[in-house]
Amino acid sequence: YEIYLNGLTGAVPRLPTDLTRLEALAEQRLGPGPVGYVAGGAGDGSTARANRAALRRRRIVPRMLRDVHERDLSVEVLGRTLPAPVALAPVGVLSIMHPEAEPAAARAAAAQGVPYVLSSASSTPMEQVAEAMGDAERWFQLYWPKDREVARSFLGRAGAAGYSVLVVTLDTPLLAWRPRDLDQAYLPFLHGVGTANYFSDPAFRAGLAKPPQEDMNAAVAHFVGMFADPSKTWPDLAFLRENWAGPIVLKGILHPDDARAAADAGMDGVIVSNHGGRQVAGAVAAADALPRVAEAVGDRTAVLFDSGVRTGDDVFKALALGARAVLVGRPYVYGLGLDGQAGVEHVIRCLLAEFDLTLALAGHASPATVRAADLVEDPA
Ligand code: FNR
Repeated sequence: YEIYLNGLTGAVPRLPTDLTRLEALAEQRLGPGPVGYVAGGAGDGSTARANRAALRRRRIVPRMLRDVHERDLSVEVLGRTLPAPVALAPVGVLSIMHPEAEPAAARAAAAQGVPYVLSSASSTPMEQVAEAMGDAERWFQLYWPKDREVARSFLGRAGAAGYSVLVVTLDTPLLAWRPRDLDQAYLPFLHGVGTANYFSDPAFRAGLAKPPQEDMNAAVAHFVGMFADPSKTWPDLAFLRENWAGPIVLKGILHPDDARAAADAGMDGVIVSNHGGRQVAGAVAAADALPRVAEAVGDRTAVLFDSGVRTGDDVFKALALGARAVLVGRPYVYGLGLDGQAGVEHVIRCLLAEFDLTLALAGHASPATVRAADLVEDPA
């Protein structure tokens, strides 16, 4: 309504309200380097495209005369009430997009009341981002380091800084083959800008002969060697439980058997995700994997979803396919690049407003009543 009222004065929004247009605008204004890092996918990019196609292929079947004049968008997830079924996904190295980086994104999320998931690979130490979050929900994403002491130190620091939910990303035991990064020799980690949590960590620094500033090559080599651990298996999850007091959510689950293993291990949630098409080239579209995971474990553990969400109707479709809430990645990152904190707030507000309208126009006053039967598959 604010936008229609602005029509009286002719004030137009600073950024497009169609969030699918942000990538092209960001490419124009910020150039192909930073946008290549964000937009890029694994292999030929087909998984990222499939994520979009799988959502678009599903169509909403609206219902009429169902009293939607008062709506409540809130959902219960992981023992919390979220004001809407939306959170900001963990995205590393945000200083590539904007000098204010993660703190700006975190402030935007806090101002709009949606959880912000801070990446392990942030350009700002987690304690500083925590301060920017004020009273808002603090979620921390872990790339599970090979070195147990560093892993323990990360979990201890995150707990002490007030992060309450732990998101453990399982789909990145190695970084995938990403041609847009490789072709630009633009591996952000090697530029040292996604390493703030590591370089500021006492356990990490204990493994170095000299501080990172004095021997950057050795520090980066140490980082690359411990950033993740391809030898981990399911029994290792016990370590996380021993070292984290709050809810634990496994990110990157696509197979229903993995979702069952997560629930059997007592995990509080899973995020059905293919990392925005950035890890396994040729992987199943996340929205195609979602119904089978939700069917397998939806009554035992919280099922969240990301990879391809761009619009309010995408949020609706993800709920209908079995998700309790969604995370959104690239759109807020473009918003950050284009207009800092205000750009991220623009993205959140557009997404929530469009979701609210879609929900109402489809005949629902709350996310709780959305069902699989509210969708059909496009025959075309
Ligand atoms: C990511 N993602 C990600 N995930 C994670 O667990 N830790 C991280 O540090 C990052 N970093 C990252 C950087 C960039 C530039 C992108 C685009 C993505 C994955 C992210 O959390 C999420 O799964 C996807 O972004 C969701 O897909 P969409 O919304 O971008 O399509």
